[in-house]
Formats: sequence, structure tokens, C-alpha cells
Amino acid sequence: KEQIINKAIQVLDNNFQKGGFTIPSKGLYPFQWKWDSGFIALGFAHYDIDKAKQEVETILDAQWENGFIPHIVFHNDSDTYFPGPEFHQSHLHPLASKKYRSTGMTQPPVFGFILERLYEIADDKQDMLDFINKQIDKVYDNHVYFYKNRDLNQDGLVYIYHNWESGTDNSPLWDDIWTTMNPPEYTFERRDTSHVDASQRPSKREYDHYLHIIDIAKEHNYDDAKIAELSPFLVLDPLFNAILIRSNEALINLYQQIGGHQDKIDFLKQQQLKSISGLNSKLFNEELGAYVHYDLRNDRQIPYLCSSSFAPLYSGAPDADKAKRLAETMLKRFGDEGRYLCASFDPTHDRFNPKKYWRGPVWINMNWMLYHGLRRHGINDLADRIKADSLELIEKNGFFEYFDSRKSNPDSETNGYGGNNFSWSAALLIDFLK
Ligand code: DGY
Repeated sequence: KEQIINKAIQVLDNNFQKGGFTIPSKGLYPFQWKWDSGFIALGFAHYDIDKAKQEVETILDAQWENGFIPHIVFHNDSDTYFPGPEFHQSHLHPLASKKYRSTGMTQPPVFGFILERLYEIADDKQDMLDFINKQIDKVYDNHVYFYKNRDLNQDGLVYIYHNWESGTDNSPLWDDIWTTMNPPEYTFERRDTSHVDASQRPSKREYDHYLHIIDIAKEHNYDDAKIAELSPFLVLDPLFNAILIRSNEALINLYQQIGGHQDKIDFLKQQQLKSISGLNSKLFNEELGAYVHYDLRNDRQIPYLCSSSFAPLYSGAPDADKAKRLAETMLKRFGDEGRYLCASFDPTHDRFNPKKYWRGPVWINMNWMLYHGLRRHGINDLADRIKADSLELIEKNGFFEYFDSRKSNPDSETNGYGGNNFSWSAALLIDFLK
């Protein structure tokens, strides 16, 4: 145990940068990513609390004046990544950060529960509470941004306008949306496929879609109302919303711990009720027995199972019956004995691809949220299996970005794919084992 933890510490320390942030993986991801940065902080917190604080402080420092927090902060120049700051042009937004270059899209709002977990981990509780006290309003403002600008139907559910905002970048979920679009063929040089085998990354045509949505947002200076009106991609994501709900809960707990702030607590509680009821009424699919995504642009559910379908377990939104159903669905469709849990897409579906990024492989951050979610509902057997599978995948293969779910893998000697020495795999292994 000590040995693997030491290896994980090495991965994190090697990826830590002078500017006070940590890259997800050398070459492939040379900047700071929003949700990565949250999970990474949890790893540091177990052995170097200052780095954990710096990681959070740095990403929150890139917040815009309207509360928005971007998905990538370009702290440095790099020619190993596309699309970089010249493509994104986030400064077009009048309230964008003057201090940092970034993208104009966001990622799941993890920082509420990250702050709460940092508090749990820290030995010096008062010191951590002082730190949280300095940072928490930024996280609160980020939630206000979402409810104010992205809750189109005032039902407590906030939309994402780009697949990169979901975190599950090239999920087969989006294929149906791509058929409604016909973007131009962009000329550009891919960088990701010079670090990682192309069979494990999104296709060129998928990138055309990704870039086209950004171009539409840029044309309107990243104005939220215009994006809501015009983006061909406008989705309610059960993962994104579950994380928002879980983070609301964490903010309420932390504000109560700090004392005062009643107006903020009231706001969060009120939104929380709406979000939970929105999630259960609009995103639960009875037939599939799990949560699904909703395509707002075309006004229909996207009826596929993926690891995000179970993420609401982590939020506490499902009642005991729903939680039981989620666990049954997971076990039945994702959990046969020949597989590690939890594939990122339904392994029984013909769009499943065990090697391709978010089209099937297992991701450690999803497993971490599912583990805590199942535990929260007392579904401990399945929780323990997810944790054991996560540890075994890393111990056997290394700190990869994602993993093949097939226990006997006919295609490759390793089950580890994508970037190696990947920060959140290392960070969450530490959190699992400590
Ligand atoms: C990528 O470049 O694949 C990133 O995941 C985008 O966030």
C-alpha cells in the first residue's frame, strides 16, 4: 500500500507546476483544467496541504466577474495542445478574467464538495476553515452564475452548451446531436493524437463539431443568452446537475460551520429543492431505470445509459427506492463478472467502444463519485466492488487516464489507455487508500 501511494505522490509532484497548479498529464494536457484541479487537490491534501490549497486558490483566481469559472486556464504557452487560447478567444466576453487566458466554457462545479472533503481530510481544522472562509464565496458566486444564467426553464436544472462542458467529451450520447448539425470541415493540426493512439481519441469529424460550437459562441462574445438561443448543443446533464446539487449541499454545510451567511444558505436551500425535484422529474427514465441526459434544443431525452446516469447517487437526490433501482441497473448492464466497474457507456449497446475515451472506458473520477454515492445510500457491496476495481486497474496497469473494462482484454496487453501518469488517477488513489 505504501509503495503505490508513493508512486502516486511522485506522479502528482511531477505534474505540479511552478505557477501553483497541476497539469493532468504531460504533453497531452499542459494547462490547468477545472474539474481535474478539484480532484487533484484531494490527493495533495493527504500529504502536502499547501499544494492542495494552492491548486484550489489558483483555479478560483481565474473566475470571471460574473461568477463563471472556465474549464481550462492557459497559464503558459504550449504548442502541444489544440485548441489553445488563440482559438478560444475568451477575452471577447466583457467580464472575462483580465489576469488569465482561458476557454469560454466551463466544467462540472466540483468545488463545493472539494472544499468540504478538504475540511474532512485536514488535520488542522481551524486552519482549513480559515482557508475555506477565504474561498467559499467564489464557489457560491459560481453557483449563482449557473442558476441565474443557465437555468432556462427555471426548474433548477442548468444546461451545458458544449460537450467539453460535460467532462464526458466524446460520449456516444452526443452522436444524435451531431446528426442535427453540419459544421464546416476545419483545417487544423491535431496535437492529442501525437501523444495518444488515434483509436483512443475522438475523430476529426467530431472535432469539427466541437470547434463549430465554439465559433458560434465567439461570434456572440460568449454571451449566455445568445448561446442559449443559438447553440446547436444545449443539454441537461445528470452528472453536471448532480455535482451542482452535491456541491450546494456542501456549501450549506460549510457556511453553517463558518456561521452567519444566512441569506446565502437560504438561497442554496431553495435552489436545492428545485434542482432535486427537476432532476427526478425530468431526467429519470423509468424504462431504463436510471437518469439520462435531455436535449433542450430538440426537446427530448437522450435515452442511453452511461456512467453519468448513476452520478445522482452522489448527490443524495434519489430516494431509497430510486437508489436501489440505480444499483440494479448498474449491476445488470455494466457489472457482469467479466468486467471492471464502471464503464463510461452501456457495454450492451452497439455504440460501446472499450478503448475510445468516453465511449466505454472506466474513469477513476467517476468511480470515486459512484463509490461515495453508493456508500451514502448504504449499498456497500457494490461500492466496495467499485473501489476494489479502481485500485486493481491502477495497480495492474499504472496511473492511466482511462481503462478497458474487459477483465480479459483480447486487443491489448494493457488495460490502461490515454495519457499516462495522469494526475486525478493518482490523486484519487491516494484518497481511496488513506
Ligand atoms: C481534450 O482536449 O480532450 C480535453 O478533454 C478538453 O477538455
